[in-house]
Amino acid sequence: MKRTATAVAHANIALIKYWGKADERVVIPRTSSLSLTLDGLATRTTVSFTDQQSDTLQLDGAVQFGEPLRRVSHFLDHVRQLAGIKEHASVASHNDGPTAAGLASSASGFAALAVAASAAAGLELDGRALSRLARRGSGSACRSIFGGLVIWHAGHDDVTSFAEPLRCPIQLAVLVAQVNTGPKPVSSRDAMRATVQTSPLYEAWVQRSAADLEDALRALRTGDLGRAGELFEANALGMHATMIAARPAIVYWQPGTLRTLAAVREARDAGLPVWATMDAGPNVKVITSVERAAEAAAWLSGRLEDVPVTVNRCGPAARLISEDERG
Ligand code: PMV
Repeated sequence: MKRTATAVAHANIALIKYWGKADERVVIPRTSSLSLTLDGLATRTTVSFTDQQSDTLQLDGAVQFGEPLRRVSHFLDHVRQLAGIKEHASVASHNDGPTAAGLASSASGFAALAVAASAAAGLELDGRALSRLARRGSGSACRSIFGGLVIWHAGHDDVTSFAEPLRCPIQLAVLVAQVNTGPKPVSSRDAMRATVQTSPLYEAWVQRSAADLEDALRALRTGDLGRAGELFEANALGMHATMIAARPAIVYWQPGTLRTLAAVREARDAGLPVWATMDAGPNVKVITSVERAAEAAAWLSGRLEDVPVTVNRCGPAARLISEDERG
């Protein structure tokens, strides 16, 4: 059995969102979702199964205890069960971007962990099986197993809920406007649960989301970025509306969020193909075409002097890397 493995995975940004679980234990979502894996915001994770007494976790060089360690250890229990092994593991992970700031670090993190831990445990899993494994760590992580445009089929149980790559005729880019990269006040896990349980708007969003996904896939297939962009923005703002209507309300937005959203609307009025999306945090991601990405980033940076804007393109699938590539 190979005892150590290192993997790299990239963050993905949902174009049609995942928000809310039908089954919390194995992470089955209420809705299917669509995402783009980015070329930036990577996580690099090394997993070594050893004869140590318990699992250990280092994140960007800092030893972790409490909830982060518990979550990783729980995930490793599932890997151990699949592989029929008992050894504990040391896990060391490095993020390119800020952790837990709503910039999809849990997606890249659990995708890299799934690929590294399964290989180190001697499992040989195909893409679908890896996506099902990553899903248990963090739902959105199942989409980071694949590169480019990815659909996560909600399914109804562990076997039928998996991600799959799709061909994308439009070359998309995602600008990340970093309003605030500090840790978010409420985890997406807790925020989702509260929304599902208390928001009177939640069921309406779930219903609409299925139609949004179908319409967005059709728009992408026919090369209609304008229609797809409208759907991406509406779906994300609708998701935030469900949270704002939860009791008590969950509001991730900050003043810089509103300024960025306004700048995106102005850029659109000025003829740029830009549409906003947001996850569980105050940062705004802007979907555009690769051809217009640099122009759109320069335009937004000019309006938002204190909000750094980075350009991300379509990125690759999660993969194992060799000793030499670890860096
Ligand atoms: O994977 P989680 O549990 O961190 O959920 C993330 C959910 C959103 O990022 C808000 C939306 C999505 O589809 O990625």
